[in-house]
Amino acid sequence: VVALGYVLLLAIVALGVPLAANLSTRVNDEVRSQARSQADLVAATAADLLAPARRGELATLARTSADTVRGRVIVVDRKGIVLADSAGPAELGSSYRARPEIAGALTGHPVQLQRASHTLGEEILATAVPIIRNGGPVGAVRVTQSVAAVHAAVRRVELGLALVGAIVLAIGLAVGVVIAEQIARPLGRLERVAKRLAGGDLSARAAIEGSREQRSLGASFNEMADRMQRLLGSQRAFVADASHQLRTPLTGLRLRIEEARAANVGPQAAAELDAGLAEVDRFAQIVEELLVLSRAGERESPGERVDLDAAIERALMRWQAAAGEQQIALERGSLRGGAVWCAEADVDRALDVLVENALRYAPRGSDVTLAGAPGRIDVRDRGPGLSAQDAEAIFERFHRGSAGRGGPPGSGLGLAIARELARGWGGEVTLENRTGGGAIATLTLPEAA
Ligand SMILES: Nc1ncnc2c1ncn2[C@@H]1O[C@H](COP(=O)(O)OP(=O)(O)OP(=O)(O)O)[C@@H](O)[C@H]1O
Ligand SMILES: [Mg+2]
Repeated sequence: VVALGYVLLLAIVALGVPLAANLSTRVNDEVRSQARSQADLVAATAADLLAPARRGELATLARTSADTVRGRVIVVDRKGIVLADSAGPAELGSSYRARPEIAGALTGHPVQLQRASHTLGEEILATAVPIIRNGGPVGAVRVTQSVAAVHAAVRRVELGLALVGAIVLAIGLAVGVVIAEQIARPLGRLERVAKRLAGGDLSARAAIEGSREQRSLGASFNEMADRMQRLLGSQRAFVADASHQLRTPLTGLRLRIEEARAANVGPQAAAELDAGLAEVDRFAQIVEELLVLSRAGERESPGERVDLDAAIERALMRWQAAAGEQQIALERGSLRGGAVWCAEADVDRALDVLVENALRYAPRGSDVTLAGAPGRIDVRDRGPGLSAQDAEAIFERFHRGSAGRGGPPGSGLGLAIARELARGWGGEVTLENRTGGGAIATLTLPEAA
C-alpha cells in the first residue's frame, strides 16, 4: 500500500505539475486577450460617444466593460484628458498623457504592458488601444487590471488541481488498502492453519477461498497435509504392529529361558541364562515403550481434570523405594500445581520418565526435588546436566545424550515418550541445566478452566 501510495503520488505530480504550469500560462494569456478585445470593443463604440452631449452614455459604457474585465476602464480624448472613468468622476478632466500606454495608444498603436502603478502601489496590467475616426486617433481606451488579482485566479486554479490530486490519491489508497486486505486475509488464515499443523494438529486444513491462486495454494496445502497425515499414520501403524507382533515370541522366549534355568544346569550356564533373561526383559521394555510411543498421538479419552500436586504425591510414592536403593533423597518442593486438563495415566507416565532419568543420572547421596507450579511440574536433580549437543537431540527416539552414554544402559526412548504424551494434550516437556549444577526437567500441561 505504501508503494502504491508512492506510485500514485509520482503519477499525480508528473501529470499535475505540467498541467498546472500550462494552465497558469493559459489563464495569463486569456486575461490579456480578453482585456485587449474588451478595449477594442469599447474603442469601437466610444468613437460615436466622444461628443460632450453623450458623456453619460460613455460613462455607462466604461462601467459595464469594467465589470466584464474586473478592472478599471477609462476613455481619454486625443490630448489624454479623461472623459470617462469606471472608477468614478474624481479623475475626470485630468491628463493621463504621461502614462506610457496612453501615450503609445494616442500615436495610433495598441499597447499592452505590465508596470507598477504609483496611484495604487501595486503591479498592474495596462491595455490601451486608440479610438480611430476618419483614419486617425481621436482618443484612447485603457483597461487596467490588478496583476495580483490575476495571480490569485491562477492560484485558485492550481489549488483546485492540488485538491483533485489529493482526492485521487486518497481514493487510490483506499482502494489499495481494500485490495491488500482481501489478499492478506486468506493468507493470514492459511498461515494460522500451517502453524496448527506444525504444532502437531494433523487434522488442520485450509479453507479454499480468495483468488484463483489463493484457492490453488489452499488446495495444494491440503493435499500436502493429507499426505503427511497418511504417512505419519502408516508409520505409527507399522511401529504399533511390529511391536505388537514381537510381544508373543518374546514371551515365548522368556518362558523357554526360565524353563532351562529351572532345569539342572551348571553354575556357569545358570549365570548366562540369568543374563539372557535380563536382556529379554530389556527387549520387552523397549517393545513396550515403542508401543506406547506409537499410541501417544491418539487420544483414547476426552481428558479430565488432573491435580498436579496429587500427581507429584503419587510419583513420590512410586519412586521412594528406588530412590532409597540409590541413596538419593527424593523430596517434595513447593506444591502449587493446581489442576490441568489431560489424562491422569499420561501425566503419571510422563512424570515416571523424568523421575527415572533424575534418579538414574544423579550421583548417590544427592537429592531430587519434585515441585509444582500452576500448569507445570519441575523435576530437579544434581546430576551432570546437559552438554551443548544434548539440547534438542535427547528428545529424539533412541538418542542417548552424554549422561546416558556414560551412565547406566537405557533405550533413549523415555523423553520422546514423555514429550509425545504431553504434546498430545497441548503440553510440553523440556530439559535444561540448573544453576548450581544438575538439570531441571519440566512437564507443562494446559491449565483446566
Ligand atoms: N536428568 C538428566 N540429567 C542429565 N541428562 C539427562 C537427564 N535426563 C535425560 N538426560 C539425557 O537425555 C538422554 C535421553 O533421555 P531418555 O530418557 O529419552 O533416554 P534414556 O534415559 O537414555 O533411556 P530410557 O529410554 O531407558 O529412559 C539421556 O541419555 C541423557 O543423556
Ligand atoms: Mg530415561
